[in-house]
Amino acid sequence: MQQVHASAGSAALSWWQRLQQARAGWLVNPRVHQWASRSVLTRWLVRRRAHQLFDVMAGFVHTQVLLACLELDLLVRLQRSGAQGAAALAKTHDMPLEAMTALLDSAVQLGLLRRRGQRYTLGPLATPLLTHAGIRDMVQHNALLYADMQHPVALMRQPKTSAMHRFWLYTDGSDGRDAPSAAPHHWSAQGVAAYSGLMASSQSFLREQLLQVYPFAQHQHVMDVGGGQGAWVATLAQRVPGLQLTLVDLPPVAELAEQRLTSVGLKGRVQCHGLHFGHDNLPVGADLITLLRVAHDHPDEVVRRLMQGCWRALPAGGTLLLAEPMAEQPGGAARVDPYYHFYLLAMGQGRLRTASRIALLMSEAGFVDIESLPTSLPMHGGVVIGRKPLDKTETNVRKIG
Ligand SMILES: C[S@@+](CC[C@H](N)C(=O)[O-])C[C@H]1O[C@@H](n2cnc3c(N)ncnc32)[C@H](O)[C@@H]1O
Repeated sequence: MQQVHASAGSAALSWWQRLQQARAGWLVNPRVHQWASRSVLTRWLVRRRAHQLFDVMAGFVHTQVLLACLELDLLVRLQRSGAQGAAALAKTHDMPLEAMTALLDSAVQLGLLRRRGQRYTLGPLATPLLTHAGIRDMVQHNALLYADMQHPVALMRQPKTSAMHRFWLYTDGSDGRDAPSAAPHHWSAQGVAAYSGLMASSQSFLREQLLQVYPFAQHQHVMDVGGGQGAWVATLAQRVPGLQLTLVDLPPVAELAEQRLTSVGLKGRVQCHGLHFGHDNLPVGADLITLLRVAHDHPDEVVRRLMQGCWRALPAGGTLLLAEPMAEQPGGAARVDPYYHFYLLAMGQGRLRTASRIALLMSEAGFVDIESLPTSLPMHGGVVIGRKPLDKTETNVRKIG
């Protein structure tokens, strides 16, 4: 475990970063650039930078190649039928051969497919896509974000008009209790099921990571706040027998969770509560509260209120565990952070925070012994835990920063 420093992070650059900055500066000088692209000492660097920039420029096409493969169900089709030629696939999908060949050859280069002679078969990236419904669901859902990002500057100026903002029903601050008069589609059962179903399927990686890094069996009672339709509590019920379980979410979602948990034979195993954590008190009794992918949907003032609510609901010595995508995580931030920054921006109120920022918010709410638990795939979420002090003498003990 790693102690988290509750600071805003240091802006000072290391000597290595300064050297890199200086080098980037030289390379933009046309003469230096020409020399560097010819010299054996530096041409690898020039080429690497060019590749990086090309990837950034062309990334949106890669995304849409992936989406087209899923929309045409190509991977499932090739898995069932074995290798196929472009002409057969073009005929099946009623499109010109050139268009199908362009898609197939692009998918080969992206690792989604492989070419064997004149035929195409599954590539190395096809397996995770075929085995994880959550990835496929997110790729298809990303079409909304893609549409919102067509005009990125307009989105930055007016995020609350985006399709993503409408998809996430709660991002306007309502709690579903006053549905459905205000707007016809607002808080419809379909809308609630759409976002809750997407969350349940895309949560699978995070669930596995959590079970690897934290000993849930040491607790008696876990309350999952913002628990969606109950995928996490259902996993805990299966994997940690004897654990008492509570789920809290907005009223229409808690109702859906109750139905889903009943349908998988967990009726009565989990207590579901419909409430708004910004206005209502959380139920007491749990010695561990989990917040999975909840805080990043909300601005700091709401997260502060939420953490204070968790603090009040926990007994002395109780634990708060927060898991969600975090900024500047080692080993992948360049790939991961831009996606979540814009995803949350498009939602209209969220914010990608560093583990230190989360630790600071936890510490302000009164938690101590705040730690970050390393996960093997931080792109699915980092984990930060904190403990409610045992007595008043511990209240202001900050083991961080
Ligand atoms: C991004 S989803 C995450 C769901 C689930 N924890 C997961 O990881 O799949 C956020 C959840 O928080 C719930 N939520 C948002 N605002 C809430 C509030 N004010 N009170 C209670 N639940 C809320 C949403 O309904 C949604 O189910």
